[in-house]
Amino acid sequence: MFEKIKSLINEIDGFTPNVKDELEQFRVQYLGKKGVLGDLFAQMKEVAAEDRKEFGRLVNELKNKAEEKVNLFREKFEEQPADTSAVGDLTLPGVSKAPGSFHPITIVRNEINRIFSRIGFNVSDGPEVEDDWHNFSALNFPPEHPARDMQDTFFINLDPDKEHYNGQLALRTHTSSVQIRVLDNEKPPVRTICPGRVYRNEAISARAHCFFHQVEGFYIDEGVSFADLKQTLLYFAQEMFGADTKIRLRPSYFPFTEPSAEMDISCTICKGEGCNVCKHTGWVEILGCGMIDPAVLENCKIDSKKYTGFAFGMGIERITMLKYTVKDLRIFSENDVRFLRHFQGVN
Ligand code: PHE
Repeated sequence: MFEKIKSLINEIDGFTPNVKDELEQFRVQYLGKKGVLGDLFAQMKEVAAEDRKEFGRLVNELKNKAEEKVNLFREKFEEQPADTSAVGDLTLPGVSKAPGSFHPITIVRNEINRIFSRIGFNVSDGPEVEDDWHNFSALNFPPEHPARDMQDTFFINLDPDKEHYNGQLALRTHTSSVQIRVLDNEKPPVRTICPGRVYRNEAISARAHCFFHQVEGFYIDEGVSFADLKQTLLYFAQEMFGADTKIRLRPSYFPFTEPSAEMDISCTICKGEGCNVCKHTGWVEILGCGMIDPAVLENCKIDSKKYTGFAFGMGIERITMLKYTVKDLRIFSENDVRFLRHFQGVN
């Protein structure tokens, strides 16, 4: 008799229901009116007087264990709001998953990479924390040259005890530093683009931010000419903005290119008719460019008599704003999903 009850207790201990129904069956089997417990209580009268105490103790143990099980699993099943297991309601509609999307800056960067890779450019990378040599000196900015003021720089203070630390490290102000990084390791012919983040100490507004993204591009070989630069940029503009896009080059100045130019494209919004975006000129500026200054080549130990090269640098935010008619560049770093959702499915 005692053995029988003990084996029932073991059975209860080992019981784990998978679904609610199984637990209910268990409850009825053990605790229900005509269940195991009821039978045992009914047998009580027949138990010999000297065994009654032990019998009662075991029956109580069985009762407690069964109740504990029921309570424990009842809570667990209650926590699961809907039964999604295989035995649940298969006719319920599925739970749809919202896929993420690429950030518009990533989308446009990838597109720029693809456009240039089709004409033989590879992709290079450089650090965002730069030294003075790579960001300025090797690019022909002499010390105290007023051109250094063109870029308000975030310097990194490595010596906290020095109040006005003017050390060697800064957040790069342009991706032109990667020209020097690449030429540290590679010799011409070199044909590469370098996308990346850059930093300038500017007041944040609809048109300027303290960080943004650029793509640098450059090509160095024997006999590279300004005509190659112009054709490469025309190809890029038409691939990015459509075959009817026109370009124009205006003379400009950068310490690391000579001659230098800024490139405008015909306004993507009004197609040159005149609108707010192009300030009624029909043209919008998208990049700076020029022939790499021979002094820069020499700084990188490249024979400037033998090799020539062109370089260009563009802001990815600017390209993205024109391509998707975005009016305020602050929205790119706000992570507002209502904005980002527009780009679902684009890569
Ligand atoms: N580095 C320049 C800028 O940030 C752009 C540039 C790149 C101009 C390469 C000429 C050649 O404004």
